[in-house]
Amino acid sequence: EKQGFRHFMLKEIYEQPTVLRTQLDAYFDPEWYLQTQNPTVGERSRITGSNPPSAPASSPGLVQLNLPQSLYENLEQIQIVACGTSWHAALVGKHLLEQWAGVPTFIQYASEFRYSPPPLTANTLTIGVTQSGETADTLAALEMEQERRKSHHSPAYQPRMLGITNRPESSLGRLIPYIINTHANLEVGVAATKTFSAQVMAFYALALDLADRRKTLKAEAIESIIKKLRELPPLIERLIEEQDDYIGELAHQFNETSDFIFLGRGINFPIALEGALKLKEISYIHAEGYPAGEMKHGPIALLDAKVPVVAIAVPGLLYEKVLSNAQEAKARDARLIGVTPKDSLEAQDIFNEILAIPTVDESLSPLVSVIPLQLLAYHIAALRGLDVDQPRNLAKSVTVE
Ligand code: F6R
Repeated sequence: EKQGFRHFMLKEIYEQPTVLRTQLDAYFDPEWYLQTQNPTVGERSRITGSNPPSAPASSPGLVQLNLPQSLYENLEQIQIVACGTSWHAALVGKHLLEQWAGVPTFIQYASEFRYSPPPLTANTLTIGVTQSGETADTLAALEMEQERRKSHHSPAYQPRMLGITNRPESSLGRLIPYIINTHANLEVGVAATKTFSAQVMAFYALALDLADRRKTLKAEAIESIIKKLRELPPLIERLIEEQDDYIGELAHQFNETSDFIFLGRGINFPIALEGALKLKEISYIHAEGYPAGEMKHGPIALLDAKVPVVAIAVPGLLYEKVLSNAQEAKARDARLIGVTPKDSLEAQDIFNEILAIPTVDESLSPLVSVIPLQLLAYHIAALRGLDVDQPRNLAKSVTVE
């Protein structure tokens, strides 16, 4: 049921904070978090002995994915196969797995992996990401990988497989013994929204679990990240409420637009790709996502006053860089839309419009920066009177290769 929303997609955009809360409780010890918020609760339970022992001083045990150590033992490489939006979530995952856990990570389109398989590497974890658990390309790639590894003589090459899915009971769940459930409930809109955020959250948990076991992050750093993740749902709730009507109004400006460019860097490059995909899928507007620094190597030739440029500019390591890339676009008369905190004077100067996001750590920002892009795609498509939930030529699960 749409529960008063005009489309399932909008309802599912609004459900994201709830999904993230469910995941946070499932992936990270809720008891520990309660104690950090209200230490007296912990005190009391220790005195009465009515609860399990209070949280340990270090982080082991805070991440509760319950994955066996055998997946992680001597890990040298991770490869991820996925399609579409799930592939974008995997790109965010790659950033986290490399930067936090220090494991070289390679992302493959499932449809390419099967026919150009990379040479087998030892001690490699293969992760399949698919919200439906039924995508034929992804299943075929994973099956092939499992088979070729099983027939290898050396134990170091044997399959180690992990699935990230919203449907543990799916074909993926039957193929792969270990699953991270994304807990997003049924998604009806063909364009993935809440399942994307949920996949990204699953990667935060996985990267922290790995960083913990490999000791690439200190216990305090892990605890601090978990606390900051816990702060996101209310911020995202407010963000959706604040931006929904504003973006609905803004959408009128793009009635005649036929091309869009989305720019991001670092951990927000995949979000630029995702923003472009959402817009293409449901509004049928041509859109491309680029790493902002790559624009000057060609795509900048496309720019003129008719092509809006959406730039994700999150305070942190790449903030100034993205702003200067946005300046380059502005010099070509592009209409500039910033996904950025609104309090920055510098940003106010550069952007024609600001889709304001709260300031959060750069490493956690994809979960907030994707929201205005989902709303932008939604409102432009809805305004054009298109079938937002059932776009032409697309199906919710693609069961042909
Ligand atoms: C995007 C979209 C598709 C899917 C892709 C993979 O909004 O819906 O790009 O992401 O077909 O689907 P799953 O995740 O079910 O494997």
